[in-house]
Amino acid sequence: MGNYTATAFAHPNIAFIKYWGDIDPDLHIPANGSISMNLRELFSRTSVSFDPALEHDQFTLDGRPIDKTGLERVRSLLKKVRRMAGIELFATVESHNNFPMGTGIASSASGFAALSLAASKAAGLNLDEKALSCLARSGSGSACRSIPSGFVEWQAGGNDEESYAFSIAPPEHWDLVDCIALVSQDEKPISSSEGHYMAKTSLLQPARVADAPRRLFLCRQAIHAHDFDALAEVVELDSNLMHAVMITSTPPLLYWQPATVTIMQEVESWRKDGLMVCYTVDAGPNVHVLCSREVSGEVTDRLQKLSGVQKVLVAHPGGPANFENGYSNT
Ligand code: PMV
Repeated sequence: MGNYTATAFAHPNIAFIKYWGDIDPDLHIPANGSISMNLRELFSRTSVSFDPALEHDQFTLDGRPIDKTGLERVRSLLKKVRRMAGIELFATVESHNNFPMGTGIASSASGFAALSLAASKAAGLNLDEKALSCLARSGSGSACRSIPSGFVEWQAGGNDEESYAFSIAPPEHWDLVDCIALVSQDEKPISSSEGHYMAKTSLLQPARVADAPRRLFLCRQAIHAHDFDALAEVVELDSNLMHAVMITSTPPLLYWQPATVTIMQEVESWRKDGLMVCYTVDAGPNVHVLCSREVSGEVTDRLQKLSGVQKVLVAHPGGPANFENGYSNT
């Protein structure tokens, strides 16, 4: 076994076709497949050291010690790694995000992807991309999509071995831009884990899930053909279907704020006027506005002028989870 220490980084991703609802909540086996794009400018950087002197696992996020749920989720991933590597050492985990917490950008995807790569390497394992994706999924479902490069599909799979993500196109395939309009930087009141659990209480979830293969097909096709109009149509439909499920769950879950709706309406009207732009919204009030690179400056300016928009972050298609020196297992 090597020197027990490794550092890795990974990007968060934005889902074009969303994961919402599990068939196995412990393993995060999703009710439907999903497709996303990694976000190059944003990343988590995570160092893991297995240390014979430690009596329990320790976890700091942006320099602050994390306990309870956060530590439990990290600990259960470390447990898996220990089991796979046949070691019994505890670890120190230090994670940093280059995007501030509370910006509504899910740090769990990039965080668990970077943790999977760093922890498995530090434990002496050389996992391939599929095994890393499965490991990351066990920490946070969408983290499995932050392991491969660029535009990524997570096949639902139905079991632990077959539920993993793979690249469907490299980052340079299409110079799409995600202009993220932040309307709130508050911690979300209901976590996505709770939301996944509630999805089955919505009458609309079976219809959303049944139609997912068609939307996945349309999205894949739009990406391969660089067809922005087709992408816009299926991405907005998919986001609205997920929020329809959320709103009709018991208890109802409404992540949108008035500014969220304003941005969605503006984006619609900009597209009608010929601008290549569309929206998608995750489990929060902030709006991811996708557009082509040529119009991203114009889109950012327009978003910044809308009332309720606090800040706009801009991200391009990103690469895979990786080690600091650029070496990749894949
Ligand atoms: O991986 P989780 O449990 O944070 O769930 C992610 C859920 C959405 O962001 C709303 C959709 C998605 O596919 O990323």
